[in-house]
Amino acid sequence: MLSENAKTQIAKLMAQYPDPRSAVMPALHLAQREVGWLPDDVIQEIADLVGLAKTEINGVATFYAMYAREQPGTHTILFCTDLPCALRGADKLLEQLEHRLGCQAGHTTADGKITLKEAECLGGCDHAPVLLIDGNEHQQDMTLEKLDEMIERLKNA
Ligand code: FES
Repeated sequence: MLSENAKTQIAKLMAQYPDPRSAVMPALHLAQREVGWLPDDVIQEIADLVGLAKTEINGVATFYAMYAREQPGTHTILFCTDLPCALRGADKLLEQLEHRLGCQAGHTTADGKITLKEAECLGGCDHAPVLLIDGNEHQQDMTLEKLDEMIERLKNA
């Protein structure tokens, strides 16, 4: 459920645009900041606030990778699969990571500890393959050994 303050902020956003559709993306950002992700009831609330169908709001929320439609785990790993990282084996490493975590990219481990997502360039191509943990810890020149150390550390953190 969104707070009254969030609803007021969304109403203000809508007043800035001639078409309420333009407020959908900033409203989703605002809601995600407040709730941490975008569950069904929040999607419905935004739909009601902007006067659009829930399916339209859901379409936007599922199209863009920055919106979380599943509750994120304690830790989030963004794994770059863009070309420079792919050329240095990112695809194979991601496969191994999915196997070790027991979940596909785009999902969260069964214990709720780790959410794994594919990402576009993370700005460290000269040290590919690269991943980003919890939005602030870059891991570079990734290897299987480094993946295992990272998984162990995050599972116990
Ligand atoms: S392509 Fe992977 S960090 Fe740039």
